[in-house]
Amino acid sequence: MVAVSEVDPAALVVRNVEKSFPAPETPLSRRQVLDNISFSLAPGELVSLIGPSGCGKSTLLRLIAGLDSTDEGDLLVGPEPITAPNAERGLVFQDPNLFPWLTVRRNIESGLVARGLLHEKKNEVDEFMRLVGLETFANVYPHHLSGGMAQRAALARALINHPKVLLLDEPLGALDAFTRMRMQDEVLRLWQARRTTMLLVTHDIDEAIYMSDRIMIMTPRPGRIERTIEVTLNRPRQRDSADFLRLRSDILNFLHFAGTK
Ligand SMILES: Nc1ncnc2c1ncn2[C@@H]1O[C@H](COP(=O)(O)OP(=O)(O)OP(=O)(O)O)[C@@H](O)[C@H]1O
Ligand SMILES: [Mg+2]
Repeated sequence: MVAVSEVDPAALVVRNVEKSFPAPETPLSRRQVLDNISFSLAPGELVSLIGPSGCGKSTLLRLIAGLDSTDEGDLLVGPEPITAPNAERGLVFQDPNLFPWLTVRRNIESGLVARGLLHEKKNEVDEFMRLVGLETFANVYPHHLSGGMAQRAALARALINHPKVLLLDEPLGALDAFTRMRMQDEVLRLWQARRTTMLLVTHDIDEAIYMSDRIMIMTPRPGRIERTIEVTLNRPRQRDSADFLRLRSDILNFLHFAGTK
């Protein structure tokens, strides 16, 4: 576990978080989704969260984003408790969710417009379009973009707010395998350029190993953090190196997906 100073404004702290929802079949009772989740992210850390479908990964990200509230426990960005959505916590989903009626430039600007900062930060719009390689697509509408380009626009739209923490909910899940690998490098490049603290939900073990400083593995619902693995491989990582494959095999075995030998 990386030590996190509670006064550092860039760190995320999740402490003893519990969350339940009304049970679908018996609405008067509640079904627990998150069970005593605790972890913290050091500033600039990139941490992945993997776990079976329905274990509560998106629920956890929504809590951190401030879109829903916990039953119990604390959520903090630096010393500040999380109480509502805020631009300091960017959220990028599997679907890029671009506004279809706005051009790429207007989509990327939209957070600045909403916060009344466009005039002050206008020059950053070009910088972020360059950063994600979309400068020649500024005036294009989302339906003309490929999946990878749309997801890059969504990343720029989140990053332009200079989030202290970027929450990524399977952001590359809808892309084909080749685009996905290229986009992993893009996200790493953005992370290295901006040192944004990132929490990445993924179903893809290779993606988690390729990208993260640490991988947290969750149990089936109610989701608990069952194991945390430090990924100490040097960057840039080689997907076919012996150490990479060994770690992959360890995680697969842990998840019981390695198949019978
Ligand atoms: N608003 C809600 N009301 C009731 N139940 C909900 C609500 N949101 C999520 N759940 C339930 O909580 C559980 C966890 O859902 P969640 O979407 O967080 O899982 P997940 O780990 O992100 O799954 P996946 O990998 O498929 O995206 C599921 O059983 C889901 O049905
Ligand atoms: Mg989910």
